[in-house]
Amino acid sequence: MALKVGVVGLRSIGNNHANCHMADELSDLVAVCDIVPARADETAKKHGVKAYYSLQDMLANEDLDVVDVCTGGPENGGWHYEPAMEAIAAGKNVLVEKPISNDIEEAREMVAFAQEQNVYLGCNLNHYFTEPAEKARAAMDAGEIGEQIFCLHRMGFPGGLRTYSPSAPPNAKGFPYFHVKAFLAHPFSIMRYFCGDITHIQAFMSQPSFRKAAGDPMVSINSIHVQFQNGAVGYLFSTRGDATMGLGGWWSVEVGGTKGTFCIENCVEKYTFYPCPGTEGAAKPENLGVGSAPLPVSHNTGVTDFGATFPRRIHAYMEDVTNKVPKHQLRASGRDALATLEYTFAAIESFEQGGVLVRPNPLPSLKHIPREREC
Ligand SMILES: NC(=O)c1ccc[n+]([C@@H]2O[C@H](COP(=O)([O-])OP(=O)(O)OC[C@H]3O[C@@H](n4cnc5c(N)ncnc54)[C@H](O)[C@@H]3O)[C@@H](O)[C@H]2O)c1
Repeated sequence: MALKVGVVGLRSIGNNHANCHMADELSDLVAVCDIVPARADETAKKHGVKAYYSLQDMLANEDLDVVDVCTGGPENGGWHYEPAMEAIAAGKNVLVEKPISNDIEEAREMVAFAQEQNVYLGCNLNHYFTEPAEKARAAMDAGEIGEQIFCLHRMGFPGGLRTYSPSAPPNAKGFPYFHVKAFLAHPFSIMRYFCGDITHIQAFMSQPSFRKAAGDPMVSINSIHVQFQNGAVGYLFSTRGDATMGLGGWWSVEVGGTKGTFCIENCVEKYTFYPCPGTEGAAKPENLGVGSAPLPVSHNTGVTDFGATFPRRIHAYMEDVTNKVPKHQLRASGRDALATLEYTFAAIESFEQGGVLVRPNPLPSLKHIPREREC
């Protein structure tokens, strides 16, 4: 039976989530909520569900299984803590938009409280709920990549001098780390999804002259070097529309190993596998000249719209909750989102100290420790 869902925060993303729930057989959208009544009314009317103007009211009047938190706030995460904690306190499963919070202490508390309340806290880390990511994962699981050596990730909105506007919305204006906190949850989640935990981070951050001239404090260029626990090394480059990426489009990741390398381009669009010379099905090393390599194999999904990630990710969350998977197996969990924020805060610390090496704060234990054993 479909789970009863209430969506909180109804601007562009909340409406996107509401549409996804309406189209998903695992979701029964029963209520929507926004502190701006007109927004709640409009979405409620569109879907024929009940409108609420406070989460407290919605929780008191609806028997919800899932509260989907799509509020934004300062640095796009400042309004997540309060509604998420309120819903968790009411014993509800929560899907929260990214970043889990803009405040690391709040994020740690959210994850700990969800564990204590034994509810599913998931985060909309939607970028790896795609066909190319599935192919990459399958290649890794089949041993086609081998031992991981490197991960190169580039993610940033296309832009440049001519698209820059000095007027920023209130959630971004005056926040030097708006881009870092609001956006890096995505690339860090991809890197961690494929390569595991990051143990060391070194970051350089900057901004182009047109931002400086406008007095815009946002450090919109992020160059981050990382070490993974598994021994691989990685690099993340991100920018908020200061330049336009060439190879791979606005979003590309390349993970290379001792047997092969995969590359995902434009997030949803293209997967390519590059075998190492001599691996099964690939050219023999002795048949290759200097500078040449075995032929890559590409798969184009025919999808170019990044919006396709939303229904897939939301469905995965609904599936995990419906199937009552063990809490630590929830895909794109609150803990996974906390990891991305720990890396983000480590990157900020590194940048603020001139590029020193920082070890991100360790994550909480993966499995729930029963209360009796805690004392
Ligand atoms: N996963 C993705 O790919 C992706 C893409 C874009 C944005 N986002 C995230 O989606 C979130 C929402 O983005 P947006 O642009 O729609 O946000 P927004 O700030 O424009 O809208 C948030 C809405 O929430 C309402 N609200 C705030 N606090 C509330 C509360 N306590 N109870 C009820 N309603 C409340 C506001 O009135 C507003 O209508 C952000 O966290 C953003 O980071 C995710």
